[in-house]
Amino acid sequence: MAKTMKKQPLKSAKWSGRFAQGIDPRALAYTQSVSFDRRLYRYDIVGSLVHAKMLRKVGILKAEDYKKIARGLNAILQDIEAGRFEFQEAYEDVHLNIEKALIAKIGPAGGRLHTARSRNDQVALDVRLYCRDHVRQLHAAVVDLEKVFLKKAREFLGVTIPGYTHLQRAQPVLFSHHLMAYVEMFERDRTRLEDAYRRLNLMPLGSGALAGTTFPLDREFVAKELGFAGVTRNSLDAVSDRDFAVEIAAAGSLLMVHLSRLSEELILWSTTEFDFIKLPESFCTGSSMMPQKMNPDVPELVRGKTGRVVGHLTGLLMLIKGLPLAYNKDLQEDKEAIFDLFDTLVPTVRIVAAMMSGARPNVAKTEKAASDGFLMATDLADWLVRHGVDFRTSHEITAKIVRSALEKGKDLKELTLNELKTFSPKFTPDVFRALETKAGVNHRKVTGGTAQANVAREIKSVEARLKNASL
Ligand code: ARG
Repeated sequence: MAKTMKKQPLKSAKWSGRFAQGIDPRALAYTQSVSFDRRLYRYDIVGSLVHAKMLRKVGILKAEDYKKIARGLNAILQDIEAGRFEFQEAYEDVHLNIEKALIAKIGPAGGRLHTARSRNDQVALDVRLYCRDHVRQLHAAVVDLEKVFLKKAREFLGVTIPGYTHLQRAQPVLFSHHLMAYVEMFERDRTRLEDAYRRLNLMPLGSGALAGTTFPLDREFVAKELGFAGVTRNSLDAVSDRDFAVEIAAAGSLLMVHLSRLSEELILWSTTEFDFIKLPESFCTGSSMMPQKMNPDVPELVRGKTGRVVGHLTGLLMLIKGLPLAYNKDLQEDKEAIFDLFDTLVPTVRIVAAMMSGARPNVAKTEKAASDGFLMATDLADWLVRHGVDFRTSHEITAKIVRSALEKGKDLKELTLNELKTFSPKFTPDVFRALETKAGVNHRKVTGGTAQANVAREIKSVEARLKNASL
């Protein structure tokens, strides 16, 4: 990219007739944005093409000028994509670079393109177009990620794993129930993006510099041509509003936080100590020194990049917090945050999906850990409740049983009926059925519980929802 960037000639460009002197090259270097906002070129050109079309439609542009402008802009687009276009720091930003090139190509007709437009509403449009495209990409990546989880949940339906609270073994759950917990998070992430998209998808052009324009524009036409759902309703707000970027950063931050929690579990689960999951070898890396190592670099980086995304959320909020209406140059600082947000989010969601599709639970290990009888202590207490004991008393009885089993060095499931009867005369032989791991799991049929029938139903329901999930 750098090769197409022309350095500012020593003698700096003079901005306009208003200035007697050219800009100090140091000030230009500091204030320019073309070194990064050139990434907007496609959206800038598409926006200009539609703006020109509308100017023609309402009679502001003559047919012949419109034709020249459209041809010129398309030629510039081709030049940029072919690497033939030289962005120049002297022209500050992507918008002026393209406009200067247009005028150089087609002459004074090029100077008519900016009629009834300011860079303030122009950049607001470009950034919204950029975000729209990339929110769609991100949304599609989240849908694909969910599909990977749903497929895994189906494939391993029935496999048990200990569920934890305080990172202490608590009760057995289905491995698929655990996966579906993440699907719930991703469903919230997906629908948050859809919600943000509705406010993002409004067309700001026509707001001018801040107050609107004296020309009779057809804003609705521009909106329709560019696929927007409507137009913004206040020019002051429209040129200074970056809420949509904050919303994307917020939705993206929460999405990253979910992926970071998942990563933490994957890292923990792939230790020798847990050994609950096998990440695909092709997604792990070795150590330069210790030959036995297989490091979970991908989830570690996902966890690490979460800080970066949350940082952009904070950065954008701080960027806006002190701005008087309407446009202020500060807003130029939104770009790198927005670019980096999507540059981080989209590949992260995609790599997690790819890695997870090759991950497999170590069923022997998870089921052995889940079969730990002490995980059934609640079920034992519940059994007593079903046989007439109040829960507080049954909790107390069960706690004593647990302590005595531990003292005897026995698993809860290994106690005999006679041993149990010393704690309560209510115990009968069928208590042992309630102590079976899978029975305990399937007993939790309540909506949201881990029973297999329940989890299977949830998998189906999300699968059906995702069929129509698109932006
Ligand atoms: N490069 C500027 C930005 O990104 C474009 C808008 C400039 N407007 C202005 N009045 N200087 O915000």
